[in-house]
Amino acid sequence: MPSPINRTFSVAPMLDWTDRHYRYFARLMSNEALLYTEMVTTGAILHGKGDYLEYNQEEHPLALQLGGSNPADLAACARLAEARGYDEVNLNVGCPSDRVQNGRFGACLMAEPKLVAECVEAMRQQVSIPVTVKTRIGIDEQDSYEFLTDFIDTVAAAGCDTFIIHARKAWLQGLSPKENREIPPLDYDRVYQLKQDYPQLSISINGGVTSIDAAKTHLERLDGVMVGREAYQNPFILAEVDSALCGKTSPVQSREEVIGKLLPYIGKHLEQGGRLNHISRHIIGLYQGIPGSRAWRRHLSENAHKPGAGIEVIENALKAMEDNGL
Ligand SMILES: Cc1cc2nc3c(=O)[nH]c(=O)nc-3n(C[C@H](O)[C@H](O)[C@H](O)COP(=O)(O)O)c2cc1C
Repeated sequence: MPSPINRTFSVAPMLDWTDRHYRYFARLMSNEALLYTEMVTTGAILHGKGDYLEYNQEEHPLALQLGGSNPADLAACARLAEARGYDEVNLNVGCPSDRVQNGRFGACLMAEPKLVAECVEAMRQQVSIPVTVKTRIGIDEQDSYEFLTDFIDTVAAAGCDTFIIHARKAWLQGLSPKENREIPPLDYDRVYQLKQDYPQLSISINGGVTSIDAAKTHLERLDGVMVGREAYQNPFILAEVDSALCGKTSPVQSREEVIGKLLPYIGKHLEQGGRLNHISRHIIGLYQGIPGSRAWRRHLSENAHKPGAGIEVIENALKAMEDNGL
């Protein structure tokens, strides 16, 4: 049976963007959205110096995305993730960066479905939280529907019942990760076809979704929609998720309410010696599309990184926006 986690709307894993501060901020706007961590490699978790699994309790439901291809290492990380309270472990089979390919994980693993199946099986043996896979519709010249279904068949046979499909293939040579999110064309029909052919699997779609209306259209045919860049660059879209997609009341009505709820979190971070821009960089897009938003962005960008910058920078950014048209 597909897992009981509500997958209607999720925020994509994004390196350097969806850190715990962004996720705390995102959670203020939606109780229902499933949040993903940035990809964390098994090497970092098992051998790194820092605590790569740290998060705020408020972030639940929260999935840890792992990068790796060694079944034993992935299993050990999945066990740690469950012990730390994560709600899901997700394997990255979609990232095309060179660094990732050298480590033999990410999108290049699409060419090794048996290895992915072994990874999934090893993780599932260790945990009772869902083990899911985020992948592409193909890689390089291997972009037929049969290539995709062969991958899904093999990985599903290892017990994975939940797939998140970025609806474009990845070119492993010649394109940067950024280009690989823009150049290969999106093919939503392929993901719809997959759901039709595998009704027993939970299939979420990812790629190019920039509005709640677009999400609704996908949800007529699929189990979930995962949104990346739009949820980061225009985060207030999250404030619509609970009411428009999940039949629940939204936790906030206005952007100012979000800031009001975020300020105590920022205050605590500063008290503990953190810097303002660790958090403020994630809220730059909050007023996207609103008159005066440029003044907001500019004030934050020019001031939040300065030593000793405090909450007053946020307050002054709001004032700058008011003076400029809000
Ligand atoms: C800055 C950035 C970092 C990303 N890092 C990851 C990552 O760590 N793991 C992953 O699976 N995908 C990563 N992605 C890809 C996104 O999860 C997503 O698949 C892609 O952006 C397409 O969705 P979108 O069109 O809604 O942005 C990243 C994307 C961006 C923009």
